[in-house]
Amino acid sequence: MPPSAPLLIDNARLPDGRQGMQLLAEGGRIVAIRPSVPGAPTESVPAGTQVLDAQGWLLSPPFIDAHFHLDATLSHGLPRVNASGTLLEGIALWGELKPLLTEDAIADRALAYCDWAVARGLLAIRSHVDICDERLLAVRALLDVKRRVAPYLDLQLVAFPQDGLLRSPGALANLQRALDLGVDVVGGIPHFERTMAEGAESVRVLCELAAARGLPVDMHCDESDDPLSRHIETLAFHTQRLGLQGRVTGSHLTSMHSMDNYYASKLLPLMAEAGVHVVANPLINITLQGRHDSYPKRRGMTRVPELMAAGVNLAFGHDCVMDPWYSFGSACMLEVAAMGLHVAQMTSSAGQRQCFDAVTVNAARVLGLPGYGLDVGCRADFVLLQARTPEEAIRLRAQRLAVVRGGAVVSRMAPATATLTLPGRPDSVDFTRQAPG
Ligand code: FE2
Repeated sequence: MPPSAPLLIDNARLPDGRQGMQLLAEGGRIVAIRPSVPGAPTESVPAGTQVLDAQGWLLSPPFIDAHFHLDATLSHGLPRVNASGTLLEGIALWGELKPLLTEDAIADRALAYCDWAVARGLLAIRSHVDICDERLLAVRALLDVKRRVAPYLDLQLVAFPQDGLLRSPGALANLQRALDLGVDVVGGIPHFERTMAEGAESVRVLCELAAARGLPVDMHCDESDDPLSRHIETLAFHTQRLGLQGRVTGSHLTSMHSMDNYYASKLLPLMAEAGVHVVANPLINITLQGRHDSYPKRRGMTRVPELMAAGVNLAFGHDCVMDPWYSFGSACMLEVAAMGLHVAQMTSSAGQRQCFDAVTVNAARVLGLPGYGLDVGCRADFVLLQARTPEEAIRLRAQRLAVVRGGAVVSRMAPATATLTLPGRPDSVDFTRQAPG
């Protein structure tokens, strides 16, 4: 996008509670944050500055999705629906769909999803891309999409051996070819290898590959209800051994839900010590895990508050939207945060705020996004929410009144409102009504 005129966002609330603030963006960066001047909002701003009146609503840094599958998104029903709704039928169904895919169809669906994302204030996505395909069709399609969306959305790609690095013939060579083509991150799926030993071996091989190439790692890890699926322990070990602290992510880690508490009490500090990031995917974990249980049925999501309390950086991902594993979703990271706080019972005010962080600042740390945040010098990327606080934004899945990328407004959404025709009642509804006092 061409350089935009300076932008002044006036009368905004910020996530830290400050009200009546204005932010000035120039050259794609925040150059000033200061209290608004009532009646004279454009005092001391450059000529030609555009003004966005926030009307007291919440201005947040954009949403970030730390875990997604853009190659499969919006393919729900192709070639059939997942009848059992399970993870394993989803993987089998994806295997049926793969030979039928075309590069154009993948790119078309991915671009459509990126449009949804921008409209929802979601401006960076880490997407896994399946490399278990000799043609690397999805890799080529998503590398092209990455270039095309770069002006308005940061797309990071993970080379993901969906059918197993050691289990699927040619997967290691394909993964290396994908990295050669420009895929950003080394993926894995140790719990899907044939044995625990091969799962551990795949973690070693992939971490060494990442270390040699200077790349980050993000593995689907222990996405299982089996409490003995402990590949995260191996991932933390190799992270530390190879000096990869801060560059490695364990995604899902659902087996931790079912682990023995004593073992978990040893594992959590080891993960913190290794500096591994964690991504939980609440919408998917709550629907795919516990499928072999009768009652009680396990929730399956990893130990979110305990990991956060141990000092592990934890983000929430959307994982799937309208694909072989999940037929719902609409790029709404507030829906993801809402499910996360319900499943993890993080209903306290502090817990709700932590869940908002999990789809914003924590996720930005997983992706290693430079210049993310609301400080002078940060990138002028924002979402203006029809809410007063992060907690209210989650409660309402608030409207994204405006989305700003690099100092330019790239999306607008009408406020949520309704016109009532009830006798003796007001003619409009205020969903943001606060308790008195
Ligand atoms: Fe995933």
